[in-house]
Amino acid sequence: MKRGHKLNLLELNRMKRTGEPVTWITAYDAPLAHAAEQAGIDMILVGDSGGMVQLGHKSTNPVTMDEMIVLAQSARRGAPATFIVGDMPQGSFEVSDEDAVRNAVRFVKDAACDAVKLEGGRRVSSRVRAIADAGILAIGHLGLTPQSATSFGGYRVQCKTLESFESTIEESLALEEAGAAGLLLEAMPSEPAGQIARSLRIPVLGIGAGSQVDGQLLIMHDVLGFYADFRPLFAKCYVPQVIDRFRDHLARHADLRRLGREERADGLLTLARLALEEYVGEVRSGLFPGEEYCYPIEPGDLEILERSKYWVKTRELTST
Ligand code: KIV
Repeated sequence: MKRGHKLNLLELNRMKRTGEPVTWITAYDAPLAHAAEQAGIDMILVGDSGGMVQLGHKSTNPVTMDEMIVLAQSARRGAPATFIVGDMPQGSFEVSDEDAVRNAVRFVKDAACDAVKLEGGRRVSSRVRAIADAGILAIGHLGLTPQSATSFGGYRVQCKTLESFESTIEESLALEEAGAAGLLLEAMPSEPAGQIARSLRIPVLGIGAGSQVDGQLLIMHDVLGFYADFRPLFAKCYVPQVIDRFRDHLARHADLRRLGREERADGLLTLARLALEEYVGEVRSGLFPGEEYCYPIEPGDLEILERSKYWVKTRELTST
């Protein structure tokens, strides 16, 4: 997307059709949302991961709707011309369709978000339908869903077995049928994620879901190496790759005081923008995610997946 132009749903769908990868990053505050917008990112997610990387909780579950609104408002102030997705935190949509719509409306009215995301498959399809009927774009989230990770044995890579692949593709189709505007897949090998992306008409983006989906999401604090507790296999820190460029940028300016006072381009914000530009460039050129950032699948396990009725159906769909 051109800098200064805000993505819309029609363009997102066109990118899916033409195979132009969508670039997506999380942000929870004004300065880093600004850096992402400057870097030409297509979309920002104000994720409930902000509860961990920004607010310091040990999981995403304690984050409240009120806190999410504050984070989303800050991100919006920093990135006025970027498509922003608000992440519905645990407790904001489970009880009823009405609750889900009320909280989705808060993201749009109070924080000027362009869409919301919610975790879950069939169990949330009536929520997705209700949000879509209220005129708000709803993005689904399947695979590893952190809010309910404990109910399927913790943070595990998904879609490596026939049962997991078939249930994920069935849930994905149910969300599309319910009116989801897009889908996020988390933590699975490229091959099953690619099958799901090719089976759906809506854009299917991935975080740790390999190279065959329609776009990539990463957590800002992983891209910048700004979170000490944990970094998953799929997350790439871009700072080492741009540090020489940052040093050259500083070296080109004899008067560093002026660069700091008048242009404010002598510190972390510039380094963040360079790292984010690198991420955007690598996603658009197909360099990210390389194999080392994708979850592998054993050839024998892949053969089992390839025998799935959904795999055959996908092959038929793509050849017509
Ligand atoms: O909250 C978030 O950032 C997310 C990603 C982990 C997908 O939902």
